[in-house]
Amino acid sequence: MRDRNALSNTDLWKNGVGCSRLERARAISDKERDEARATPDKERFVEGSSATEDEPRDDLGRFWALDPETTFLNHGSFGACPVAVLHFQAHLRARLEREPVRFMARDLERLADEARTALGTFIGAEPDDLAFVPNATTGVSTVLASLDLAPGDELLTTDHAYNACRNAIDRAAARARAGVAVAQVPFPIDSPDTVTLRVMERVTPRTRLALLDHVTSPTGLVFPIAELVGELAKRGVETLVDGAHAPGMLPLDVAAIGAAYYTGNCHKWLCAPKGAAFLHVRRDLQSRVRPLVTSHGANSPRTDRSRFRLEFDWTGTHDPTPYLSIPEAIRHLDSLVPGGWPEILVRNRTLALAARRLLVATRGLPLPAPDSMIGALAAIPLPDSPPGPSPRKAVYQDLLQDDLVDRYGIQVPVMPWPSPPRRLLRVSAQVYNRIDQYERLAAALGELLPRE
Ligand SMILES: Cc1ncc(COP(=O)(O)O)c(C=O)c1O
Repeated sequence: MRDRNALSNTDLWKNGVGCSRLERARAISDKERDEARATPDKERFVEGSSATEDEPRDDLGRFWALDPETTFLNHGSFGACPVAVLHFQAHLRARLEREPVRFMARDLERLADEARTALGTFIGAEPDDLAFVPNATTGVSTVLASLDLAPGDELLTTDHAYNACRNAIDRAAARARAGVAVAQVPFPIDSPDTVTLRVMERVTPRTRLALLDHVTSPTGLVFPIAELVGELAKRGVETLVDGAHAPGMLPLDVAAIGAAYYTGNCHKWLCAPKGAAFLHVRRDLQSRVRPLVTSHGANSPRTDRSRFRLEFDWTGTHDPTPYLSIPEAIRHLDSLVPGGWPEILVRNRTLALAARRLLVATRGLPLPAPDSMIGALAAIPLPDSPPGPSPRKAVYQDLLQDDLVDRYGIQVPVMPWPSPPRRLLRVSAQVYNRIDQYERLAAALGELLPRE
């Protein structure tokens, strides 16, 4: 077991632990790109897909299909896929449709293995421990459905959990007549240690599994996940990490975190097409985890691959092109700035920190969390939503969000948290964003909030 302390989030940023892994991923994706160029039968789409030395580097928005009329400050909700990666995916789809049987029966396994290898290098995981799933919600539900819970057992989570995953945990518990303990983690928050303290306070001898976010959705906090997993393990509790936002946002070493289960999205910060995510299951638990759909792998006579892989690789006919495009997404993003992925991670985080400084300063608020808990998302408390019935029905989650979109062309989420009327504004920082966009947001808030 590697030293967990070496993996605290602060150290990851300070020492670049994990960046060396990204550099290795970069070397591998370079190798793949070169191979793709040299090997026509790989049929990879590479032409015209990268930034070149003579292109200006300061407006990277031109690599995305995003509406230039919209100030897009919400990469976090659904990601955004660069045009070149979409072209790569379209090329794969065309290849599939030209000869569907050859693609599915002959080529897919090799291409999926290659994608798993590239992803594994990027996130610090053995390819054999990775299954592709369409999204993190499916990853969470898959693990919960595989648990053998007994009446009286407890599942543990926090009040920052993503709503869909909280629903999944409630459902799994209700089915087994088990309980759900919810650790209350404050926001604003003073230190990552508060998260650890609050979670450990809720562990009991009946706790079977903790579902914890690596990066929280409503509050955009980076939880000290390696410490949490380690402390829970000392108490005999396994962890399912909801890492929906982590790949491509944080330096990541999934195997070193040591969680029983880790699921993450590639369609958010890694910028793969939508429908690309993974579930990492520790080797000793793989025989117990089954996909939500039973298919051919369940009675396959093959002995050259694990049952885990055989079952998860084929859950019925599906479009595999989102996850097959992961290596191209890794390669393409890496080509956009001179320092590749390590630079992207630092650049996005630096912008998120600057954006939240600006937003709290214009609102006269203190910082709601230490810098060490920020990745590329930042949440800012807003005044409570106005009392009484709404004058109109919100299209998004809050009328303020509607107004930001409709009147200012700014797409940014306003989230009720922990429950209405309290609410938060959450900004994202991706390489296509610039600081003046958050200045426009601060000015728009200055006009809209007093009028609510
Ligand atoms: C923490 C967290 N978990 C899970 C999800 C769900 O992701 P998906 O819809 O891709 O399953 C999200 C989406 O924003 C999230 O923020």
